[in-house]
Amino acid sequence: MNPANGTNAAGRTEDTNATNAARNTGPTSNVEQSTRSAVLLEVRNLSVRFGNLHAVSDVSFNALRGHITSVIGPNGAGKSTLFNLISGAIAPSDGQVRFDGEDITGFAPHRLTRKGLSRSFQMTNLFPELPVFENLRLAAQVLEPASLLAMPLRRSHKARERADELIERFALKDKAHELAGTLSHGEQRRLEIAVALASRPKMLLLDEPTQGMSHADTEDTANLIRQLSAEITILLVEHDVGLVMNLSDHVVVMNQGKKLAEGTPLDVRANPAVQAAYFGSGVAHA
Ligand SMILES: Nc1ncnc2c1ncn2[C@@H]1O[C@H](COP(=O)(O)OP(=O)(O)OP(=O)(O)O)[C@@H](O)[C@H]1O
Ligand SMILES: [Mg+2]
Repeated sequence: MNPANGTNAAGRTEDTNATNAARNTGPTSNVEQSTRSAVLLEVRNLSVRFGNLHAVSDVSFNALRGHITSVIGPNGAGKSTLFNLISGAIAPSDGQVRFDGEDITGFAPHRLTRKGLSRSFQMTNLFPELPVFENLRLAAQVLEPASLLAMPLRRSHKARERADELIERFALKDKAHELAGTLSHGEQRRLEIAVALASRPKMLLLDEPTQGMSHADTEDTANLIRQLSAEITILLVEHDVGLVMNLSDHVVVMNQGKKLAEGTPLDVRANPAVQAAYFGSGVAHA
């Protein structure tokens, strides 16, 4: 947060209520309540094992409303597994995930989408044989009221509107009727973010959204994430440490399944353990 101009690391205006609540450390129960409400996602002592491998081990952190929280770490650190645990793709062996005040541990992904938690995948997760528009319309289907499920003709109204909106916003008008599988890699990654947004989530989980992108596409995606963060809470896994340091309000560093450190980009960059295990390894350069 830059106190001079009221903006944070991403150059956005702070969510004043959430931020004040997060900073308020007074002893009253009111304050405790408002502190809780500033936290959208709470990850508590989350663990999972694959055989003898502790892929994620006792990881805890909070993601505040309106902030970009990023998870970084070298290959195999457990970042995607952590995302899979949060987004319900796999069940933890221990620990808890709370979202918007509710225990969502072990909820199936479609249930989480209805709760407002949406994710994009490190590996593309589009329907390549369907047109761009249909990919978006299907993802927006969750917006239709359940009572209209028996009336398919009326049902598609909201989903279509949302798909149209996203086509416009993501500059995909020219591509709307092309099969998703025929788009360039950069376009597919962008479409994937649009698909994840289709359900109007409260929080967006992005797993390496710039993976395999050209420098120009990476910059476009960073700008897109920055814009999105004005309206949605973001949890980001990203290899490009420079991009993370520029975009994030809060950074969680993982190494070998464990949380090594967390803090502001500056705190994390200055942390000797992080420098030794990550920046010093030559894996990435800030
Ligand atoms: N389904 C699985 N079964 C067995 N082992 C797995 C499984 N998924 C991940 N692992 C292992 O768990 C560890 C953490 O993997 P994960 O994919 O979470 O790392 P990551 O930090 O996302 O890495 P990257 O930066 O390469 O994407 C790795 O050693 C990986 O081989
Ligand atoms: Mg990964």
